[in-house]
Amino acid sequence: SMELSLRPSRLAQYIGQEKVKNNLQIFIEAARMRQEALDHVLLYGPPGLGKTTLAMVVANEMGAKLHTTSGPAIEKQGDLAAILTALEPGDVLFIDEIHRLSRVIEEILYPAMEDFALDIIIGQGPEARSIRMELPPFTLIGATTRAGHMTAPLRDRFGVINHLEYYTISELEAIIERTAAILETPLEGNASHEMARRSRGTPRIANRLVKRVRDVAQVKSDGTISVPIAKMALELLLVDDKGLDQIDEKILSAIIDMFNGGPVGLDTLAASIGEERLTIEDMYEPYLLQHGFLQRTPRGRVATPKAYQHLGRPLA
Ligand code: ADE
Repeated sequence: SMELSLRPSRLAQYIGQEKVKNNLQIFIEAARMRQEALDHVLLYGPPGLGKTTLAMVVANEMGAKLHTTSGPAIEKQGDLAAILTALEPGDVLFIDEIHRLSRVIEEILYPAMEDFALDIIIGQGPEARSIRMELPPFTLIGATTRAGHMTAPLRDRFGVINHLEYYTISELEAIIERTAAILETPLEGNASHEMARRSRGTPRIANRLVKRVRDVAQVKSDGTISVPIAKMALELLLVDDKGLDQIDEKILSAIIDMFNGGPVGLDTLAASIGEERLTIEDMYEPYLLQHGFLQRTPRGRVATPKAYQHLGRPLA
């Protein structure tokens, strides 16, 4: 599908995350030279930065089959046993939201990761016994929004731990130009820059903007994405010029208007805007902190002068 072809399939086509890419390049090459499965890889960082894409790229570079699942999808021991026993030597198993695995499932995963062994419990009560099945060597790629939500024993079983960072504006420009080329949509002048700086550091958002701006270009113009067309489309999409979305703005304006700029505790803030604490913590706060709109203090979150200025509020 088009969705699939927008994703790079090789490391060399993957834009950004230079440190992660350079590390993986070496570990992949070494594993291939030894004809072994790549060691288990943990990818952590905010959503939309390409964790799934990277898992696909790694499997592809290893010439391995990719199996995809997620923490919440594995409910029973049998669910995981079915996935593990379907693996072939060298296959890659991608578990998204791996911090959401239950403890019981995690404990099955430990010997699977460490010894490529599956311990199955047969029978119940005093009759119960455990048999050990051998698994083929495989690579587990785990993805999580925050490594801090994982238990230490699980985290410790990954040989490669990589943090994904927000993308720079120039990296996002490159992704936007690549996507527009794949969609056969001409881009003019600084249009890619206009879109990149409103993408919140996130390729998933950048690619979504390209598709919507392309729609506007097609209907309101000749199909070419020019700067005025990009600006018109971005206004329709209610993306502001720092790329903050409506929830970012809700968070900042609540701190300023309801809590006098803060400090306000995260639970109080979450309740006051009707969002989950974890959503704010994992999806919104990292970007706002990194771009200096928000500060974390021992007594709670504080809106910075930059947040006041951005929302057009007078500094108290
Ligand atoms: N599409 C989404 N993320 C990408 C990336 N990091 N590089 C190239 N294309 C992408």
